[in-house]
Amino acid sequence: MPVLTVADYEDLARAKVPASYWGYVSGGSGTERSMVANRAAFDRFALRPRVLVDVSTIDTSVELLGARLAGPVLVAPTAYHRMMHPEGELATARGAAEAGALYVTSYFSTQPLPDVAAAAGAGARWMQLYWLKDRELFGSVVDGAVAAGFTALVLTVDTPVVGRRLRDLRNELVLGPELRAANVGPALGNAMRRGEAGRSAVADAANRAFDASITWDDLAWLRERGGLPVVLKGILTGEDAALAVAHGAAAVIVSNHGGRQLDHAVGGMDALPEVVEAVAGRVPVLVDGGFRTGTEVLMALAAGASAVLVGRPVLWGLAVDGAAGVRGVLDMLHTELAQAMALTGRPTIARIDGTALRTFPR
Ligand code: FNR
Repeated sequence: MPVLTVADYEDLARAKVPASYWGYVSGGSGTERSMVANRAAFDRFALRPRVLVDVSTIDTSVELLGARLAGPVLVAPTAYHRMMHPEGELATARGAAEAGALYVTSYFSTQPLPDVAAAAGAGARWMQLYWLKDRELFGSVVDGAVAAGFTALVLTVDTPVVGRRLRDLRNELVLGPELRAANVGPALGNAMRRGEAGRSAVADAANRAFDASITWDDLAWLRERGGLPVVLKGILTGEDAALAVAHGAAAVIVSNHGGRQLDHAVGGMDALPEVVEAVAGRVPVLVDGGFRTGTEVLMALAAGASAVLVGRPVLWGLAVDGAAGVRGVLDMLHTELAQAMALTGRPTIARIDGTALRTFPR
């Protein structure tokens, strides 16, 4: 079967991944309404193409916080890549670098940060963090990311506690002996590998480790410790976007965490316009949640996003064909975007503006 779409990668991946890991990757929290909302949002937009524009050359490249990228599709931070493929994050890093894409490495990487950095080579990379109660461990992860050449820190702010993911509870999710979170210290790492009836060992361990008390005032500590741009991931309102900019965020990521955190949260694409308005061009606005085609990426850019992140699609590519699969997914999205740019008469990313989009009332 030829692999023509990102959805084709999903079908192939499903057959390869153990059921409890597949449940972890594909699921959301609660009723999974937030996950559905991400996809449903695309029905509220349509494209307004312009014709008789010279589109003989299409340029999808962008620059983001100093990184030059082949296109505006980034690898979202997702945990435990060795669930998908024995090489895990090393394959993801290589595939992303080959595609000219920026890789946001998850704090829950199953490969050590220096190894991920070496695999990425010259490829652009940011490090995602969850704020830990153990400040010493948290600080050492920040230091490790800086030492490994990550160029920005992405603090995920939508996870003071882990969403109630029913698939994981039913599957009694636990990390198998073949993988472990490599950057979390032995206590947390071991806890994720000890299953308990009716529980998700992964969620329980994370809930014990995360600091649910942090507020806007704590961000200065992180900026100081890392000396790197801090990007906030998981913003869904204009109010928080304005606070993010006021507290020195270098960029914001509009995201409902792939529908895995607050149930009934607004979808990424639906929340994007109010965040773009509140930020008013002061920092880049990124978005994720349910992006599966290049045309959908173009919609987000038209609504004011500087780039889009994809989570599950990269994991599907990784499961199907390691680094080549990751590259395949990212290349496919960039190729589809280039075609959509030609057909909307927008040969460069800068030419994609609000006039390309028609929004329908909810
Ligand atoms: C995630 N996501 C996530 N986010 C984060 O900040 N840190 C993390 O460790 C993870 N881990 C993670 C694991 C898995 C299996 C998934 C599917 C997602 C959320 C991720 O960064 C992103 O917000 C969503 O995946 C985007 O939605 P799509 O593209 O998966 O629909």
